[in-house]
Amino acid sequence: MGIGMALISLALMSYTSQAGSNIHPLILIPGSGGNQLEARQTAGYKPSTLFCNRWYPARKNKDGWFRLWFDLSVLLSPFTRCFAERMMLHYDPDLDDYRNFPGIETRVPKFGSTQSLLYLDPYLKHITAYMAPLVESLEQIGYVDGQTLFGAPYDFRYGLAAEGHPSKEGSKFLQDLKDLIEKASNSNGGKPVILLSHSLGGLFVLQLLNRNPPSWRRKYIKHFVALSAPWGGTVQEMFTFASGNSLGVPLVEPLLVREEQRSSESNLWLMPNPRLFGGQKPLVITPNATYSAGDIPQFLYDIGFPQGVHPYKSRILPLTEKLVAPGVPVTCITGTGVRTPETLFYGENGFDEQPEVVYGDGDGTVNMVSLLALETLWSNKKNQTLKVIPIRGVSHTSILRNDAALDEIMAEILLINSSAEHSAV
Ligand SMILES: *[C@@H]1O[C@H](CO)[C@@H](O)[C@H](O)[C@H]1NC(C)=O
Ligand SMILES: *[C@@H]1O[C@H](CO)[C@@H](O)[C@H](O)[C@H]1NC(C)=O
Ligand SMILES: *[C@@H]1O[C@H](CO)[C@@H](O)[C@H](O)[C@H]1NC(C)=O
Repeated sequence: MGIGMALISLALMSYTSQAGSNIHPLILIPGSGGNQLEARQTAGYKPSTLFCNRWYPARKNKDGWFRLWFDLSVLLSPFTRCFAERMMLHYDPDLDDYRNFPGIETRVPKFGSTQSLLYLDPYLKHITAYMAPLVESLEQIGYVDGQTLFGAPYDFRYGLAAEGHPSKEGSKFLQDLKDLIEKASNSNGGKPVILLSHSLGGLFVLQLLNRNPPSWRRKYIKHFVALSAPWGGTVQEMFTFASGNSLGVPLVEPLLVREEQRSSESNLWLMPNPRLFGGQKPLVITPNATYSAGDIPQFLYDIGFPQGVHPYKSRILPLTEKLVAPGVPVTCITGTGVRTPETLFYGENGFDEQPEVVYGDGDGTVNMVSLLALETLWSNKKNQTLKVIPIRGVSHTSILRNDAALDEIMAEILLINSSAEHSAV
């Protein structure tokens, strides 16, 4: 490297630090499975096998904490079983809330920083990269972790519930996120914050905005940018509940993780919404019955998960009935033109076998009707600024690393940062 190069990088450095000090602070809110999660076993832990009692996926620290999500070894079947058991949630009807598997404690590392969102396994950065390319792009336009850039990881197995129902974990996350927003704004001269979510993170953000008064939103929120948000759920989620989802890895036997996936409260939140998918249109077809988004309770019962019916009806359905416009400016950036499960056909052997899938338009995971839901529902709302940016051929997660998508996202962030727009509420 010659002197010329050194001068250029010096010039760049001064440019970025200058821009950095002036830029609107930004908080990243990941999607389901998009951050690391740690666990430890306590005396009350009674695994189904002795093997699972002794096996740990990753190195354990002296207090017994180890990385539960994600470690590559869990993809091998004897380990998958232990992993699934530790990840499992339970709905407790007396508490009317979800809790961990008995004897398992969990925690989210490094709240506030982007550290636990970059890679799911810090020892296998290349193959488990999640938000690393996105964070790199943000740093190139001047963002600095811990100063102007923050991360809000959370225990993505938990969701939120309709008013009147407790949801201890999800509510705690909303409170932590609220505190982080205030801190980020206060430490940046009172500049309101840009929220940038991926997938499920967008559903949490919308709830946070609507659970806080307009005066708070006006003071603290500059703009909400939602990437790949499944506003109305996905047909893919019915697939996961019925037959298990191999985490996208052919090695994983889907039935080994099915019970754990069914137990996740946030997965239940992502069932297709009848208002958007229609109460009549068949999404799952078997020799015995057809199920539309309006038949989810019967569907849960028939796939052999009757425990899900009550929490779905009482906690989830009323939560998803309305997607309330928060008044703060919103941009949705979504992939399109990728084959996405739209109808599932099961044969004589029932739900333990993988279905035949008919595909439609979407981002590979989320159906178009769900990605574009806000446009459909908020089109006549005078106080709601909404911009939708579709990007063809980009999938649900490649939006976080595809060059064209990252350019589009950075252009939108810079536009927002420099604009004089503010909340209409
Ligand atoms: C962000 O906006 C401010 C004005 O609010 C401007 O001074 C700054 O240069 C912008 N940053 C970038 C990286 O464009
Ligand atoms: C259909 O019903 C039969 C008889 O009750 C049952 O054995 C089979 O598993 C069912 N199939 C599905 C896909 O529900
Ligand atoms: C829109 O904003 C105005 C004031 O700016 C307010 O009076 C009105 O109630 C708002 N409408 C809706 C639908 O939120």
